[in-house]
Amino acid sequence: MITLGIETSCDETGVALYCSEKGLLAEALHSQVEMHAEHGGVVPELASRDHIRKLLPLIQEVLAKASVDKTELGAIAYTAGPGLIGALLVGASVAAGLATTLGIPLIPVHHMEGHLLAPMLEDDHPDFPFVALLVSGGHTMLVEVDGVGQYTILGQTLDDAAGEAFDKTAKLLGLGYPGGPALAALAVKGSPDRFTLPRPMLNRPGLEFSFSGLKTAVRDLLKTLEPLDDQTRADVARAFEDAVVDTLANKCARALKQTGARGLVIAGGVGANRSLREKLAAIAASHEARLYYPRPAYCTDNGAMIAYAGACRSGDSLTPPYTIEAKARWSLEDLKPPVRT
Ligand code: KG4
Ligand code: ZN
Repeated sequence: MITLGIETSCDETGVALYCSEKGLLAEALHSQVEMHAEHGGVVPELASRDHIRKLLPLIQEVLAKASVDKTELGAIAYTAGPGLIGALLVGASVAAGLATTLGIPLIPVHHMEGHLLAPMLEDDHPDFPFVALLVSGGHTMLVEVDGVGQYTILGQTLDDAAGEAFDKTAKLLGLGYPGGPALAALAVKGSPDRFTLPRPMLNRPGLEFSFSGLKTAVRDLLKTLEPLDDQTRADVARAFEDAVVDTLANKCARALKQTGARGLVIAGGVGANRSLREKLAAIAASHEARLYYPRPAYCTDNGAMIAYAGACRSGDSLTPPYTIEAKARWSLEDLKPPVRT
């Protein structure tokens, strides 16, 4: 059966076709990053309007790429939340309209479940159970994954997400949006010994994160260093990256110890950070575990992970006549294992 996956929860329009027998058939993505960069961050209304412009052409593109006619689709899966409500409603409306016209099942997918299951799209994928570190612009959480729909949140951020902290700190350093990759590139040129920033929440037990204090520490430090020269900016970037990486790695070590899991998955945009990957690989090895990460295109938002998660949930489709359903907030722990068909 072929499932069409639609992702429109934030600033990426993602579409893919997943076949339960042959795997992924085709995918297409449009990123709105350039459009939002002008404004220094995601503007929700602009995001919704751009999804409206891009979604139908992208669906036509994947059908053409895979030489699949829309009448051959077996189900439509779409991101129903969490995310920007206007953006989600674009995907939900198109999905419900198409599923109604074609008379096929409509499957709502939890965006974070998409991220959690993305490593399963790779040939070398982890077995259940595993621990996942989800680090994106909007989320930072550690999740114990016992199977599809069996998720226990071990800890999450109390304030800023890790990606958000990268972006805000990058802004303080005069780098553009999104600042994570630019800050990481600058950090490579920085000295690891010149500045030391706090490691938030490391001296407390538990698996919670907090990053807003770190951003404030950078702001305070920068004030004492003006006027900033290029080397100093690089040294501050390095101190910031080291503090975030150390914090995330330490909590991952605790999670592996606590759960005894043999697999550690890293997903979300910050998962592209090389220094984080290197550190987590070492942490995993010292806990007799292995580090898995989806390819970079499946770390960030994409349609493939939604098509795949939808295919895993083919028994969970809505009942016609379809209404347009989306939720800005939706806890991962509200999910249940899929209904078997
Ligand atoms: O998962 P994602 O593409 O979008 C969502 O937030 O859903 O994550 C984007 C975040 C941004 O905050 C970006 O700055 C950060 O991931 N990011 C990085 C790197 N690449 C992307 N942060 C640190 N180092 C990187 N190499
Ligand atoms: Zn995401």
